[in-house]
Order: sequence, then structure tokens, then C-alpha cells
Amino acid sequence: MESITKANTPIESWTEVILIYNSALKEIGTKLEILNDEFQHVHRYNPIEHIKSRIKSSESIVKKLKRNGYESTIENMVEYVNDIAGIRVICSFSSDIYRIAEMISNQNDIKVLAIKDYIKNPKPSGYKSYHMLITVPIYLSDRIVHAKVEIQIRTVAMDFWASLEHKINYKFEGNVPQYIKDELVECANLISDADARMLHLNEQIRDMN
Ligand code: GTP
Ligand code: MG
Repeated sequence: MESITKANTPIESWTEVILIYNSALKEIGTKLEILNDEFQHVHRYNPIEHIKSRIKSSESIVKKLKRNGYESTIENMVEYVNDIAGIRVICSFSSDIYRIAEMISNQNDIKVLAIKDYIKNPKPSGYKSYHMLITVPIYLSDRIVHAKVEIQIRTVAMDFWASLEHKINYKFEGNVPQYIKDELVECANLISDADARMLHLNEQIRDMN
């Protein structure tokens, strides 16, 4: 959110941070709902299963700043913590992921800062998901601020895997035994295979109509 830190009226309080990032989540949430509704109208089909959003807790923000060697100031939060506002978009099929990412990127007021495609390049853990870091303008009474939002787009199956893997990591405090890690990688491969086969099935069925 460069314009905030460089403007004459920088973000000064935690409550203002929350206000701005909450507004950013509302803006992106509405954009996604509109795209989904329009898609239903044109193609008689919903690419989005559901959407989850969250504001990062103050404890997690402070922890992340500390981990990366920054002091806990409002300015550092805004500058260095990219996932204060996070939105997760869950789709039925992997093809929907790229369709949604493209529709979001094509919107004139949205600026894409970074893309991480963990579907084409999965993490060694087996993690798959499409990440976008974007900014969206927030119109306040006296200025416009460009708030960062991390968007994670994944299939229902990828989400299922990520939730379990997250739970396992939490339980073992990061020291997950190798045999469980191996099993998780295997599950991730099974899930990719199932995703691909269900996409293929869906395409076959669609072409029958
Ligand atoms: P963070 O410091 O965690 O934000 O990582 P990063 O800045 O390198 O960004 P990255 O895009 O790799 O990851 C951001 C988010 O993606 C994380 O906060 C998780 O929500 C999710 N994520 C990334 N890797 C994994 C993984 O291996 N397993 C699970 N369950 N989630 C992951
Ligand atoms: Mg994160």
C-alpha cells in the first residue's frame, strides 16, 4: 500500500489498518461474486464453489515481521506483510482456477503485483494452489489507498489436502515424521489425478448436451 505510507496522511492506527483491509476484502469479494453471477447467467454454470476470507491476526502479523527481521510498526506491516487481507477461492475444476485468475487480472482497477503458480510448480510438500498478490483501490473520504490482497485459488480437492496438511504441521509443530510427509505427497498426487479425471468427465458430459 505504497500510497498510504507515502501520503501526507499515513495509516496511523491498528483500527485504520483493519478498516482498510476489511474494505479490500469486501471489494474483492463483491468482484468475485459478480463474476460468478455473470458466469452463471452466460454459461449456466458456477465456477466458484465458495469463498473464504480473513484478516490476519495481530499476533500473526507481529510474528511474521519478527521472523523477517522487521520491527512491529504500522508502516512495516503495510509494506512487508502481503497477506494481511487474504481471500481463498474454492473451485470445482482446475480449469476454473485460471479462468478466475484471468478475469480478476483483466479488471482495470486491479494491479497484479505477483503470481505464484503452485499448480504448475507444486511445493515439495505437495501443496498446490494458485496465488495472486494484487492491489485494489479503496475510496476513503479524503484519499484513495491501494490495499494489498493475497488471493489463493484452488480446487475443492486441493483445499481438502491443504487443510489436512496444515493441521498435521500444526500438530507436529513443523517436525512432521518423514513417513507422514511421504504419505501427504502421495495423497497430493492422487488428488491431482482425481482432479484431472473429474475435469475430463465433466468435459465429456458437457459435450453431450
Ligand atoms: P508465508 O510466509 O507463509 O506467507 O509464505 P510466502 O510469503 O512464501 O508465500 P506463499 O505464497 O508460499 O504462501 C502463502 C500462503 O500459502 C501460506 O500462508 C499458506 O496459507 C499457503 N501455503 C503455502 N505453502 C503451503 C503448504 O505447503 N501447505 C499448506 N497447507 N499451505 C501452504
Ligand atoms: Mg501467509
